[in-house]
Amino acid sequence: MSVQAEEEQVASVTRAAGGQAAVSAPDAAIGHALGKLDTAWLRDEYVNQGSFLYLSEFLPPDATQRLIDAANALMPEVNRNFIPGHKAGGSVSRHTIDRLQPYIAELYRSPKLVAWLEKVTGDRLQLSPEDDPHAYALYYYTRAGDHIGWHYDTSYYDGRRYTVLLGVIDESSCILDYELHTRDASKPDEPGAVQYPPGALVLFDGDKLRHRVTPSREGEVRVSITFEYVTNPNMRPWRRFISNMKDAIAYFGFRQVFRKALQSVRAGGGKAGGSV
Ligand SMILES: [Fe+2]
Repeated sequence: MSVQAEEEQVASVTRAAGGQAAVSAPDAAIGHALGKLDTAWLRDEYVNQGSFLYLSEFLPPDATQRLIDAANALMPEVNRNFIPGHKAGGSVSRHTIDRLQPYIAELYRSPKLVAWLEKVTGDRLQLSPEDDPHAYALYYYTRAGDHIGWHYDTSYYDGRRYTVLLGVIDESSCILDYELHTRDASKPDEPGAVQYPPGALVLFDGDKLRHRVTPSREGEVRVSITFEYVTNPNMRPWRRFISNMKDAIAYFGFRQVFRKALQSVRAGGGKAGGSV
């Protein structure tokens, strides 16, 4: 891609993020992070691993510290959830983040981050719609047995859904277990595991990576951030219903999920074709 094309790409993302022309502090932090990376090599690594990439060091220390402070400040806002046999833990949705810790939202919208993710994934990415509580969120493991069982980050959108995980706090023994190539019949499944520390990054195509997080033990604390990007923000109504139910039960609670959905409907919008 030419320099001009890259600049246009960044500019389009900047416009989509609300037309902010100035480089924000989170965007500058991402610029710092990207300066030491060989993106072409990482793109190959991502492809060879079946749309999966792990970087044990990504965010600069000051940005990581901002996230640690934000995660600690949001502890009173955590919504606990429990699905017998599948998951237990706490979550804070993008709606709460917007209200109390907008730095995380700015990091999610960082034009430099989105442009880099586009280079690595090879896809044109869009931000998740405003009424998606999962667009950016925090996961908290603070009690013994908090975990999530094997699953995919299934896309309910018409296009692909990408997940970025950032390590924030890890005073735990929890492991992110994964299996590469499970949906590629031409390659054998390839298991792997990481215990991603603060500042680390995990990137994958949600429909391609089978993964889980192993249970925490008594006295352990683990907090991670998830960012979700999509290739097409349209979502059909029945999928929207399933997605909302899943988010309400498994993550954020009915009040968080359906209050925003109702507001969107009353405003004449709805998820389909939502803003980016
Ligand atoms: Fe997941």
